[in-house]
Amino acid sequence: MTGFNPPMQLIIFLSLLLMASTTTTITTATAAPQQLSATFYDKTCPGLQNVVRSVMSQAVQKEPRMAASILRLFFHDCFVQGCDASILLDDVSGFQGEKSAGPNANSVRGFDVIDKIKAQVEATCKGVVSCADILALAARDGVALQKGPSWPVLLGRRDSQTASLSSANSNIPSPTSTLSQLTAKFQAQGLSARDMVALSGAHTIGQARCTTFKQRLYNQSGTGQADPTMNTAFVAQLKGRCPSNGGDNNLSPLDVLSPTKFDKQYFANLQNGKGLLTSDQVLFSSSTQSLVSTWSSDQPTFFSAFTSAITKMGNLNPLTGSSGEIRANCRLRN
Ligand code: HEM
Repeated sequence: MTGFNPPMQLIIFLSLLLMASTTTTITTATAAPQQLSATFYDKTCPGLQNVVRSVMSQAVQKEPRMAASILRLFFHDCFVQGCDASILLDDVSGFQGEKSAGPNANSVRGFDVIDKIKAQVEATCKGVVSCADILALAARDGVALQKGPSWPVLLGRRDSQTASLSSANSNIPSPTSTLSQLTAKFQAQGLSARDMVALSGAHTIGQARCTTFKQRLYNQSGTGQADPTMNTAFVAQLKGRCPSNGGDNNLSPLDVLSPTKFDKQYFANLQNGKGLLTSDQVLFSSSTQSLVSTWSSDQPTFFSAFTSAITKMGNLNPLTGSSGEIRANCRLRN
């Protein structure tokens, strides 16, 4: 007898079904998270890197510390929800950002420089470049301008529409941390102890307020004494800047010998008991001590560990594809 002979309507229906499922597959593939790429803005904003470099160069010339401040902003951004510019959002009615978190309040700075870069970028590439990418590029340029290493920044991050005050309080390590507390905070972000020591090398530039290390001078662990791991001449020098009463906002360089040069000196300081924060000095102990010793006398190896670690940090949970947005103003959601 005759074989199965489907009616034309069924054939059309099945073909449509097949087409629909193919279309769905294509749509899903397009919406899937994309990888960051060094060439992301090559066609849409070819002048981007020149603008960032030129504004950073003016800012650092005016105030060398700005290189450090922008680098720290990038770190505090990436450790909270990933590198999504959440730290740049202002508190506005009905929205709480991260600026009032313990590690950020009266401390993080450099927002005006990011605004200036964003304004210049918007003038030629409107609505194209994220604040998160601007921050990643500006951090890199600041380091290079202080004679540190440079590295290709992968791009294509988008900006968050959210922020997390509570994650800013819990994810960013405290300056009084022990080595295991520090290691745990970096590990929670997928960063190794080696990455942590390399990234702490960022403290080769910049300043810290007395309040962040004062207990080491006068009353370490409730003893009424200075931290015994500190060099005694260094303690005396710091007491001159940070009196036991008041002066909490006075500043001291994180790298006492070359505070505006991105170099290996930070690690040599740790060997000499001249780390400023507890979280610096503890790196010269236990399992991380040998890394500090190696990098104190081998700058190229430190630079290569730093660029590898900061690239990893820059890749933390980026928003890509159609997630998030490209903010018009880095301080506000669109
Ligand atoms: C390992 C854990 C870390 C702790 C506990 C820590 C803590 C601190 C503290 C307390 C200050 C001084 C803040 C103030 O006085 O207001 C500071 C400054 C700074 N931090 Fe860290 N930090 C850490 C890791 C990092 C990382 C990973 C980077 C960047 C890759 C970084 C970059 C900086 C820079 C450049 C400054 C100076 C900022 C300026 O002068 O404006 N820090 N840090």
